[in-house]
Amino acid sequence: MNIAIDGPAGAGKSTIAKRIAKELGYIYVDTGAMYRAMALYFIRIGVSSDDGEAISSKCKDADISIEYRNGEQVVLLNGEDVTGMLRTEEVGNMASATSVNGDVRKKLVELQQKLAATTDVVMDGRDIGTVVLPNAEVKVYLTASSAVRAKRRYDELVAKGETPDIDKIEADIIERDNRDMNREISPLKQAEDATLIDSSYMSIDEVVNAVIDLTKR
Ligand code: DC
Repeated sequence: MNIAIDGPAGAGKSTIAKRIAKELGYIYVDTGAMYRAMALYFIRIGVSSDDGEAISSKCKDADISIEYRNGEQVVLLNGEDVTGMLRTEEVGNMASATSVNGDVRKKLVELQQKLAATTDVVMDGRDIGTVVLPNAEVKVYLTASSAVRAKRRYDELVAKGETPDIDKIEADIIERDNRDMNREISPLKQAEDATLIDSSYMSIDEVVNAVIDLTKR
């Protein structure tokens, strides 16, 4: 049994997917973290986001694997635990830019399919229902308005003691949506058999319950 959750940046996919995995006893697979680990590798070795040839050849040297420690996903990049380094704006933007590359996608999609083949998963990303797990039993397309998504991100950063600019956050979100939705390979879109959930005016509990209802059905 697999649950696929796709949607744009900041829609709450990981929060929801983690809760569902916990309630149903499934494994949560955060595929964005894999693209982020790959992006971190490119940043470290100085590959530019517009150098498609270098991205295609260097992605072969990045060994990305996933482990679970105390129920949490840990991402290893060439054996190093990089989990704590992935959720920055710099890495997120680099991940969006380099995930357009077909060689990067092929490598990470294979890893994701292997993980889902052996165990019940809740997997979130951009192409899970359309490409990675087209036969997933439950598919959700989770979205929210760009203003609501920017406000959620803003609140997160303020809670960390930062002083972010909300308009800049929303502009970045819109730019990322455009790139993720309009790329040539596996663009972000709602799978034909996915259920659309707009979380703009829903609480986390309401969204979790809606997905669990779908799963039970
Ligand atoms: O979900 P996230 O913000 O951690 O993802 C970072 C970027 O990785 C996102 O902007 C696009 C890319 N990505 C993707 O192309 N396919 C996925 N399944 C997951 C993420």
